[in-house]
Amino acid sequence: MHALTHTATATEPAVTRGETTKLGRAIVVTSGKGGVGKTTTTANLGTALAQRGARVALVDADIGLRNLDILLGLENRVQYHVLDVLDENASLDDALVADKHSDGLYLLAAAQSREKEEVDTEKMRALVASLRERFDYVIIDSPAGIEKGFKNAVAGAQEAIVVCTPEVSAVRDVDRVVGLLGNRFRPQLVINRVRPQLVKKGTMLSVEDVDAFLRLPLLGVIADEPQIIVTTNRGEPLALSRDGQTANAYHAIAARIAGEDVPAPRVEMPKPTLFERLFRGGRA
Ligand SMILES: Nc1ncnc2c1ncn2[C@@H]1O[C@H](COP(=O)(O)OP(=O)(O)O)[C@@H](O)[C@H]1O
Ligand SMILES: [Mg+2]
Repeated sequence: MHALTHTATATEPAVTRGETTKLGRAIVVTSGKGGVGKTTTTANLGTALAQRGARVALVDADIGLRNLDILLGLENRVQYHVLDVLDENASLDDALVADKHSDGLYLLAAAQSREKEEVDTEKMRALVASLRERFDYVIIDSPAGIEKGFKNAVAGAQEAIVVCTPEVSAVRDVDRVVGLLGNRFRPQLVINRVRPQLVKKGTMLSVEDVDAFLRLPLLGVIADEPQIIVTTNRGEPLALSRDGQTANAYHAIAARIAGEDVPAPRVEMPKPTLFERLFRGGRA
């Protein structure tokens, strides 16, 4: 049995582990470039970690462009946001929204009608620190760019996940972000929206191409998945299920984050056609 080290309110998602409270891990999801899948990765990774029994807080640090709530189907439940907490207009308990689908998963939404510049970096750092006292994982979804919004998103984190699509522009932006992160954060790479058919044709960078350029530990590879649009519109992250390659790819990322030794990430390549096998020496 766990001994309570402080008085918790009924709604307080406190994580109390015996006499001492172990701090959770704060991980920022970033990329430099917009539209590469940071928010999608955050929602699915948070869901997959929660499904493993972890207590997870997702922080939408994309102030002004909030959309993590929509991916989780929580937009109607958001009453307060990050800036309300930073400005002390709301308590963390008031602002954390419990997820509909996964026990242990909570969202701290972004302010929609505010500017990134309004966020105080030190206050953001303190907010993430207090979330680490209550959750196993604090996952921070960062905005595009490398300006103040990025700095605020990384302020309280110790680890980083960088999301990259197999495009030269995205690879370059990730390279820049990794340079800015420096030696801290031990960035790990998620390659998102890979289209095996295009890689095979030679019109899309392959996982190996991206990997060879960025030289980061490869955390996961996610295919371009038409189902993601459907699940996003429904507010039900794909990782709620374990059906299919992409859902399982998110679960493998969560397992790797949790320290499990899972096989190297890869995307199934299309089988060589008969023609290729006969004339190009391809293997079935
Ligand atoms: N693996 C994927 N397959 C297909 N569509 C994706 C995938 N990942 C993201 N998307 C789509 O790409 C768009 C941008 O994703 P999003 O997560 O919002 O990116 P970011 O947060 O980096 O701006 C969204 O419309 C999302 O549904
Ligand atoms: Mg986003």
